[in-house]
Amino acid sequence: MSITPSVLKYGRRVLVCCDPFLATTPDFQDTVDVLHKRGAVVRVMTDVVPELPVESIERAAAAAGEFAPDVVVGYGGGSALDLAKLVALLLVHPGPLSAYYGENAVPGPVLPLVAVPTTAGTGSEVTPVAVVSDPERDLKVGVSSPYLIPRVAVVDPLLSVGAPAGVTAHSGIDAFVHAVESYTSAVREVQWGEELPVFVGRNQLSSLFALEAVRLIGGSLRTAVNEPGNIAAREAMSYGSLLAGMAFGSAGTHLSHALQYPIGAITKTPHGLGTGLMLPYVMQAALPSSGRELAQIAQALGVAGSDERSSAVAAVEAIASLVSDIGIPVTLAEIGITEEQVPRIAELSLSVKRLAHNSTLTADQQTFERILRAALHGDRASLS
Ligand SMILES: NC(=O)c1ccc[n+]([C@@H]2O[C@H](COP(=O)([O-])OP(=O)(O)OC[C@H]3O[C@@H](n4cnc5c(N)ncnc54)[C@H](O)[C@@H]3O)[C@@H](O)[C@H]2O)c1
Ligand SMILES: [Fe+2]
Repeated sequence: MSITPSVLKYGRRVLVCCDPFLATTPDFQDTVDVLHKRGAVVRVMTDVVPELPVESIERAAAAAGEFAPDVVVGYGGGSALDLAKLVALLLVHPGPLSAYYGENAVPGPVLPLVAVPTTAGTGSEVTPVAVVSDPERDLKVGVSSPYLIPRVAVVDPLLSVGAPAGVTAHSGIDAFVHAVESYTSAVREVQWGEELPVFVGRNQLSSLFALEAVRLIGGSLRTAVNEPGNIAAREAMSYGSLLAGMAFGSAGTHLSHALQYPIGAITKTPHGLGTGLMLPYVMQAALPSSGRELAQIAQALGVAGSDERSSAVAAVEAIASLVSDIGIPVTLAEIGITEEQVPRIAELSLSVKRLAHNSTLTADQQTFERILRAALHGDRASLS
């Protein structure tokens, strides 16, 4: 699939952010060749540092400034797409990047962005957020603004075929968590007339996208991990993760994400591994408060029982099976978390307010510690 027409309508000077491995692939080189042939002046930037430390983003933006691009392309996984978003931001608005942390702090449009995801995925190609790490902070931090939504998302499942099983599993389960968490997020009261938050909680449109994403990803993630060349599974995953991005880009995610932030910082494990590990425990705890939504998720997964309660329980079982079938660890102990760390993880998770307060569960220390202790030893029954 050619991205050239989508890019060139924004100008001839094209900055492409791509991680160093993907920049060596024939698909990427073909993409750049075609841009050159159509008269574009292309600069490829491969400074995608894992976890996106803030200083690496500011350095990339300073280097890109001399080139003065008209349009920024992000080509790769969520890390490359997020770098492209933040470079496009800093090329229009002055640094430091920390001025834009949180929600709605970006004052106006950024450079036009074209996103080409190669994982399925973060959904970053359609979301209003980019995630960075900052040594001044204990946790990763988000820049959330509708101005960060790419103008064009070019989603070609064939680009994800080369993703190794681990990347497929971690980015794929993260997409599934986006779908389930958007569908089970809190319904929030919106004050019309005031500036809306970026993430507004569960709503009718996000729910449409979320449930379809649950169905697609639930039916294809195992195959995508076990048979990397299965194009039908890759297609369903790419479309599912795009829909999940549309869903959480407005509803927001919740506790698996809030808990993953400190867990990821302590264990240095991938984002999707942590959100996937936590999801069965968070949903078990949410059985009383999100039972109706979980029953609908059971229907989308094809495991509904005879009534709402049995369906909701079946949904949690099906979620737990999916997570373990694709090789995600089942307990926090397996990734090195200890009992002594539980109170601090709960405290740090609570500090991520936009996520901690977006579930149907009460956001307090006791609730978070209970979920964490269940996950520590794989004891979901303790949450019933
Ligand atoms: N902005 C958002 O909406 C959003 C949402 C969720 C997560 N994130 C962020 O995204 C990042 C994770 O992104 P990710 O899971 O896509 O992984 P990634 O971008 O960090 O890439 C992981 C690895 O996979 C490789 N890779 C990617 N695509 C490949 C392909 N097609 N073939 C072979 N190798 C490939 C990369 O080279 C890299 O080594 C995290 O930093 C997370 O915080 C952002
Ligand atoms: Fe995520």
